[in-house]
Amino acid sequence: MNGNLKLAIQKKGRLTEKSLELLRHCGLDIENYSERLIVSVRNFPLDILFLRDDDIPEYVQDGVADIGIVGENVIYEKQTQTTMLEKLGFGRCSLMLAYPENKELKKIEDINGRIIATTYPRILKDYLGSNNLNAKIIELSGSVEIAPSLGVADLICDIVSTGNTLMMNKLKKSFKVFDSEAVLISAASSLSDEKKNDMLNDLLRRIRSVLTARSSKYLMMNVPKNSLEKIINIIPSLKSPTVLHLADANMLAVHAVIPSNKFWSIIEDLKAAGASGILLLPIENMIQ
Ligand code: PRP
Ligand code: ZN
Repeated sequence: MNGNLKLAIQKKGRLTEKSLELLRHCGLDIENYSERLIVSVRNFPLDILFLRDDDIPEYVQDGVADIGIVGENVIYEKQTQTTMLEKLGFGRCSLMLAYPENKELKKIEDINGRIIATTYPRILKDYLGSNNLNAKIIELSGSVEIAPSLGVADLICDIVSTGNTLMMNKLKKSFKVFDSEAVLISAASSLSDEKKNDMLNDLLRRIRSVLTARSSKYLMMNVPKNSLEKIINIIPSLKSPTVLHLADANMLAVHAVIPSNKFWSIIEDLKAAGASGILLLPIENMIQ
């Protein structure tokens, strides 16, 4: 035990690279991790544990890891005592019912009496129950997508992200059971070890700053002096925009941080109000 904060992430899968990328954006210098179970961070008191994602909620609950990054799908399936600290905005996917391309499934009631293979029996059981459906669930520990071609199930209920796995196995998706994204969890909202809790708060501050920066953009433009008020009313900025003088006395430069998804809906209004030289830049970090 070295007193470092311990973070569990998925060993190999959809969330591995994105989790490491988030940590690197937080300024963490991570040792080369290929095929290792634990790696240390050179410039932060953090050890990263690479584990099977399905085991992460339990390891966090039991204190083997202090915190973990895992999909909501796994958390709801495992029903462990953990607290969600932050949604991380990546690893978005859906738990879906899927069946062989050459079969037909018109309405959800058509699954009554069928066999569904899944690694998410609990979520599926809840879904069937709340929709008054009656199908048989077969629990598998992995490679669910091959169950229909092996003849052990009529349908599968599995995670779909890009859809490649389904396509390669000649399956098509149908009804959605559950939406998920990656989240950061801990056993309780604050850790009992005071030092570790300070480390966690430091890490959380960094993560939140990266997440805010990812969803924001820096907007710059030149505007005629007499349309400044109009332009400021169009900009969906949280804070008051910065206004700067230009060499041309009739013009001003306006800078503001805006939510990325608002840009295209305001661009025409900005132009109509006389804005020119509009630039939209990514933000590396944002401390609030
Ligand atoms: C899920 C699922 C598929 C894959 C689907 O695995 O079991 O294998 O993702 O993604 P795609 O639509 O992009 O092809 P997951 O990453 O949850 O890992 P695990 O099954 O090993 O736990
Ligand atoms: Zn898994």
